[in-house]
Amino acid sequence: MVHEAKDFSALIGTLKGLSDKQLSAHLGLYKGYVAKLNEIEGRLREADPTSANYSFGEFSELKRREAVAFNGTYLHQLYFENLSAAGGLPSERLQEAVKSSFGSWDRLVADLKGSAVSTPGWVLLTRSRIDGRLHTYVMYEHHVGLPAFQDILLALDCWEHAFMIDYGTAKADYLKAFLDNVDWGVVDARYGATVPHTAS
Ligand SMILES: [Fe+2]
Repeated sequence: MVHEAKDFSALIGTLKGLSDKQLSAHLGLYKGYVAKLNEIEGRLREADPTSANYSFGEFSELKRREAVAFNGTYLHQLYFENLSAAGGLPSERLQEAVKSSFGSWDRLVADLKGSAVSTPGWVLLTRSRIDGRLHTYVMYEHHVGLPAFQDILLALDCWEHAFMIDYGTAKADYLKAFLDNVDWGVVDARYGATVPHTAS
């Protein structure tokens, strides 16, 4: 299939604490990942798997970078989708799930902040299909660190490109802005669509 970048330009000029320049630059990077994903998938259709080589080889290099471009595309889509000027409060069922998994909403926020400090990449809030609970995980690059059987509820981009224009190295200030702009309605809808845990 051909992957297409979704149009998130309507976010520009609407979010609190994220400038037009910052968002425009970030959306440009997102489009770059989509283009690279299409390029990699196209080249993989032509590349010779029998030439694979662990040290170096066209097929091997494409395979090694395939998940980078894929997650670079779809984690950004999740990120921009969970931002909104409207913001909104989390639903009761989401608050209950957070309380049951983290103890309190404040503990989730503290966890997200601590996780953000712990990675140069992504922080994801997920619901695990293994235990049915919510978890946070930190990722490196775009493709390293996500355990299996997770449904992603919230994507928090902690790459420097997400905030350097507005905040320099003040990542904590960016986190505040991010949390001010989370569309909890989107997060709740993702939660509602997760695969329920079934006890064995
Ligand atoms: Fe990003």
